[in-house]
Amino acid sequence: MIKIVHFDHISTASNNKVRETDLFTGLFGFQIRTEWHSEEGYYGVGFDVPGPDRIGWELLVPDNDNSFLTTFLNANNGPGIHHVSMQIADAKHAIDELNNHDIEPIVTNDGIHHNVYLHPKRGGSGILFQLFEGDAWNDPALDEPIFQSNEPNLGIKRIHHIAQAINDSKMVLDKYQSLFGYHSIMQGPRKPSDEFQTNVLETQTKEIHWELLNPIGKKSFIKEFINSKGEGAHHITFIIKNWQQAMDACAAYNIEPFGFYENKIDGAKYLECFLHPRDTAGMLVQLVWEEKEGSWI
Ligand SMILES: [Fe+2]
Ligand SMILES: [Fe+2]
Repeated sequence: MIKIVHFDHISTASNNKVRETDLFTGLFGFQIRTEWHSEEGYYGVGFDVPGPDRIGWELLVPDNDNSFLTTFLNANNGPGIHHVSMQIADAKHAIDELNNHDIEPIVTNDGIHHNVYLHPKRGGSGILFQLFEGDAWNDPALDEPIFQSNEPNLGIKRIHHIAQAINDSKMVLDKYQSLFGYHSIMQGPRKPSDEFQTNVLETQTKEIHWELLNPIGKKSFIKEFINSKGEGAHHITFIIKNWQQAMDACAAYNIEPFGFYENKIDGAKYLECFLHPRDTAGMLVQLVWEEKEGSWI
């Protein structure tokens, strides 16, 4: 098993730096932590994200048509989640572990970060994983920053999970279990469906959850997703502080949430809705408000 020290960030690729920066700092209430330009052909923006675990967000924007990001954006038909990044204890050991799983990682080392990448099509099941040994970009030893946005925003408390659409849940679960130490804590869905099954995983550092979604039946929206985009990141879920605040913020941005759902877990109420990828940098966003902290899963 690869020793994971910290879930460092989630990265979005887009051609539109201004629009996505406005979205992340405006509606989402993130704060810019750093900005840079890379010789590898892109601009980067690093954001602080509310939450106790210092999981950050990153925006990558190509600066030319030959950038590897342009290839991604063309294949993805627009912006979307480009990679997830986890800090590991030992890159050499990670390479051995991956080789033992017949996965040949892409390895880079600039002396500061020893990066071990799982390619989306060669081990990543549709997601590019960056595993790095070196300093965290979003240091979990630091206190949560103070967020001072006056604009209407969603009032995000923390990132809850990333959901990944895949064909073979058992295969991916086995892989994540033995490679990353993820394990299943809930199988569902809670609302019975004849279109998909879900498996919610606890991650090694418990900073974030991970969800595997696999299609069942003939008519499945997960199957449609995989047919059109391939396996990969399906949605991201944020826990929000205040339902009305989030709805007001959506209205201020002319965004119409959909898929409203309300229920209780052990007597504690929760509310859910979704924001369409066209409004949110190419990713489906789920908002969840929970009456009792930590009750929703
Ligand atoms: Fe990154
Ligand atoms: Fe989910």
